[in-house]
Amino acid sequence: MRRKLIAGNWKMNLSANEARAVIAALRAQIDPVAAQLAKDRELLIAPTTLAIGAVGQALAGSSIALGAQNMHWEDSGAFTGEVSAPMLKAFGVTHVIIGHSERRHVFFETDEFVNRKVATALKHRMVPIMCVGETLAEREASRTLEVVMRQLENGLSNIPAEAAGTVVIAYEPVWAIGTGKTATPEQAQLVHGSIREFLDDSWGKSAAAETRILYGGSVTPDNIDSLLAKPDIDGALVGGASLKADSFARIIRARLK
Ligand code: PGA
Repeated sequence: MRRKLIAGNWKMNLSANEARAVIAALRAQIDPVAAQLAKDRELLIAPTTLAIGAVGQALAGSSIALGAQNMHWEDSGAFTGEVSAPMLKAFGVTHVIIGHSERRHVFFETDEFVNRKVATALKHRMVPIMCVGETLAEREASRTLEVVMRQLENGLSNIPAEAAGTVVIAYEPVWAIGTGKTATPEQAQLVHGSIREFLDDSWGKSAAAETRILYGGSVTPDNIDSLLAKPDIDGALVGGASLKADSFARIIRARLK
């Protein structure tokens, strides 16, 4: 069985002090059910780079893992403004979001960059959460699957099937991010099913069955249950609703048995 992954992407929000307060409030709600949560799900928070140290300390002893929102593919060097995998690992970072649509569209990251970063994360035994997703114009032109398949093919180029248990894919339709317009569970499942087929073709059945595919884009406490009910939706990458302890705690506890 694939363990669900519920991840908070805090983007460029919450300073170290603000982050500590949110985590204290979140832990008050989820630490008491940690054992129950651990049965079928993993939890993650990806704060801003500058808050990673503070958040790592605030999460000590909890079941929530520490993630980064981006990283460079080299270990060190003349790359102004960047951070590397070894630097993040030194702070206890275990997961890294790669190729988020804001990185792709605002900072012009290419599929090739995404591919190098996925390979680097794996080399350093970190979990890459590789994001894919179409824009509104692409969806309206019926190009959703074409775009997502291209991002998968290029992003996972030369990544072997052995990475399946580690690599996480996040399907995030760009038109649903931060807009309050969630893909319906049916729309999301259709794309998730196609992503699973792609993985099956490239890595084989058991590797495809092992890989987690998250949904992201205006996930809230109100829609998380119906999204997670779909067979190929293995968790969520949550932006806005992860910034408040109450709403993130409700999302984390969704469909808890
Ligand atoms: P959102 O962001 O939940 O605020 O739509 C999701 C994401 O971009 O990861």
